[in-house]
Amino acid sequence: MDPKDEIKQKLDIFDLVSEYVVLKPSGSTGFKGLCPFHSEKSPSFHVSQDRQNWHCFGCNEGGDCFSFVMKIEGMTFPEALMHLGKKTGVEIRRLPTTQSNVRSRMLQVNDLAQKFYRKVLLESTKAGSARSYVESRNIPVELGERFGIGFAPDEWDTLSSFLQKRGFSESECVQAGLSMKRKQGSGVIDRFRNRLMIPLRDHHGNTVGFTGRCMPGDAHGPKYMNSPETPVYSKSRLLYGLDLAKRAVRDAECIVIVEGNLDVVASHLAGVEQIVASSGTAFTKDQLELLKRYTQTIVFAFDSDAAGFTAAKKGISLARTMGFDIRAAILPEGVKDPDELVQKDPTQWKELVNHSQPIMEFLISQVTRGKDLRNIDDKRIVEKELLPALSEMISVVEREHWLQVVADLLQTPVDQLRPSIPVVLPQTETMEPEKEDKADKEDQPVSKEAKALTLLFGQILTSEEVFDTFHKRLEKVSRNNESWEALYKIAAETYAEASQPTQKSFFLRIRDMLDGHPLQASLEELLDTSSFMADETFQDLPPQKVLEHIDHLFSSLEEHALGKRREILARDLRQAEAVGDTETVSRLLTQLNE
Ligand code: UTP
Ligand code: MN
Repeated sequence: MDPKDEIKQKLDIFDLVSEYVVLKPSGSTGFKGLCPFHSEKSPSFHVSQDRQNWHCFGCNEGGDCFSFVMKIEGMTFPEALMHLGKKTGVEIRRLPTTQSNVRSRMLQVNDLAQKFYRKVLLESTKAGSARSYVESRNIPVELGERFGIGFAPDEWDTLSSFLQKRGFSESECVQAGLSMKRKQGSGVIDRFRNRLMIPLRDHHGNTVGFTGRCMPGDAHGPKYMNSPETPVYSKSRLLYGLDLAKRAVRDAECIVIVEGNLDVVASHLAGVEQIVASSGTAFTKDQLELLKRYTQTIVFAFDSDAAGFTAAKKGISLARTMGFDIRAAILPEGVKDPDELVQKDPTQWKELVNHSQPIMEFLISQVTRGKDLRNIDDKRIVEKELLPALSEMISVVEREHWLQVVADLLQTPVDQLRPSIPVVLPQTETMEPEKEDKADKEDQPVSKEAKALTLLFGQILTSEEVFDTFHKRLEKVSRNNESWEALYKIAAETYAEASQPTQKSFFLRIRDMLDGHPLQASLEELLDTSSFMADETFQDLPPQKVLEHIDHLFSSLEEHALGKRREILARDLRQAEAVGDTETVSRLLTQLNE
């Protein structure tokens, strides 16, 4: 038997989690307790012994025994496997699961690509201009070596064919984000062409992807192009430079955050190595949690015209509610980024970082700049900007300190100001970083439908009998949604395979089937989350009520689909009427009546 399965068979999730969390019974088969992954006062962390999984409604994390150990111990999957193997007496000789194989192949292919790009930069006759560019940016050879910087030549498939010669298949190269399928014909081409290649490494130093900077004067595509999300690269989890920063972070007891990856590289030149890049996006909770392992103090570097500050605002709020001590290092006027400063004056950069100021001091100076604090309108603006920041401070001492400062500024007694500080909600509810695709989703009335689908899936995938009763209806309503449709298909396959007797529950067999699926992570999450959502809704209802509830959910989804269809028909009808297309009008009318 696969050691992963053997461990799962021998280990009980309740016992495992109980080592870290006090669990109390909840509902008929579950347990709950205070989530170990975020701070909360009332328990939203649930464990199911039946399904051997866990989920937190507060921070939306969840999974099985392996993900629990990975998260709470900060382990990789192979490490968690070893750890639980020891605990359960299951011998782990190799890493035979498909998941870890895919991961290790992805790491190997990225590593090989990094070496290839590096060699091209150093030696190829096609990299002359790239070498001059690197020189013009003042990146000496040792520094380039430390960061593994390379060059992707301006050709169609040099890397792809090299990787294939070394035993990686086309589909592996595509999966790793290094190659792309040709639009016409067969075969693959390189994703990155004519770009300076900066390897993205995880905090262990594994190359998991790349960011490619265009060559000066080459206007193809964006200035920076990144690897897509892959089994080893997740943009929201990676902090560029962390692998090389860890030691310096411990010594300096803080970490500096800049926007650009090449700012990190330049900073090393100035001897400031406790530095990472957010890569031009808002900070995520995952990134901050990773940082928390190394330090409590974050120094944000901003340009003096506050553009960088505006971009970082959200991340700052999130970090504040997570209890970080936040400081600011402000670049001199006219200097765009740390790279520029280092090129001008490396010592000045070092000084700046060493003499950072508390973020509130910076915020106050930003907000009050050009304001007349005898003027009530200006006072109001200042109040509105500063009070939310106060409310996000989780240290009472810190909050009281700055409250006093703000009160003095506004010439208002502290005790009268205090009640108008907004109540701070648990950080996970207020400060969840926005998902990138949120804007798209907001236009669609998905939430109610999504919730209904979640409950239906959560309930129907608990047992074969329930699935048997509802699967036709479930198939219909999950159409048009990639993830639910995929999950439905897997459930249907699992159901069809049920011929051999097995001790495993329907739910657990579905979960096993997800191993190695291209959408594995997100489907596992859907499956786990929906099962706990369904628990909450259904577990205390009598069977007849459960059936009624399910029927009701289906009806609302079916009604919604019908409504949509009606809308489309009505729109087409209006258009046909407008252009006087009588034939189409009458056809659409019939359809609408149906
Ligand atoms: P900048 O445009 O400020 O780039 O974007 P930079 O780091 O100073 O780069 P150089 O010095 O001109 O080479 C800041 C960060 O935003 C992300 C990158 O991570 C970049 O480092 N970015 C920028 C992208 O992801 N894509 C882009 O097209 C541009
Ligand atoms: Mn720059």
